[in-house]
Amino acid sequence: MNAPLTWSEQFALQQPQMDTTHQEFVALLADAHAALDGPADALLQRWDTLVEHTVAHFAQEDRWMAATGFASENCHSFQHQAVLQVMVECGRRAREEADFEPLRIAVGELAIWFPQHAQMMDASLAEHLLRVGFDPVTGQVRDTALAGTTPITGCGGGSCST
Ligand SMILES: [Fe+2]
Ligand SMILES: [Fe+2]
Repeated sequence: MNAPLTWSEQFALQQPQMDTTHQEFVALLADAHAALDGPADALLQRWDTLVEHTVAHFAQEDRWMAATGFASENCHSFQHQAVLQVMVECGRRAREEADFEPLRIAVGELAIWFPQHAQMMDASLAEHLLRVGFDPVTGQVRDTALAGTTPITGCGGGSCST
């Protein structure tokens, strides 16, 4: 079965840690997709791996936002929470109720969601990190004044007006 989504340079945001994490996400989603027609336990195991990776993926971006002037409630982090909540619920339904339908649908939906999220919200975050001189290794901003004094609640993406 062909992967629903494959990595391409159009997803690269020139932010090495983010790009690596996104490549891993695409690969793990492809793994889950490849297991759709196989045994249920293998599919669930791959889904759990994807969810676990996504927890860390989103937490990394949320941490970077918090370190560079974003409000704790901002639309990018809010979208992370919403997507993760759905992913966790899909795993729960499969595990506790043997209902794999939501999980199957989510595999396809994530392949549609990811390019939009990466190219809008994550791309805006990558630009912001560059602008403020954020160093992901130290977690420090080169010039704190550049991060602004008013907490950022928008994401800078096309779906967001702030
Ligand atoms: Fe991301
Ligand atoms: Fe994100």
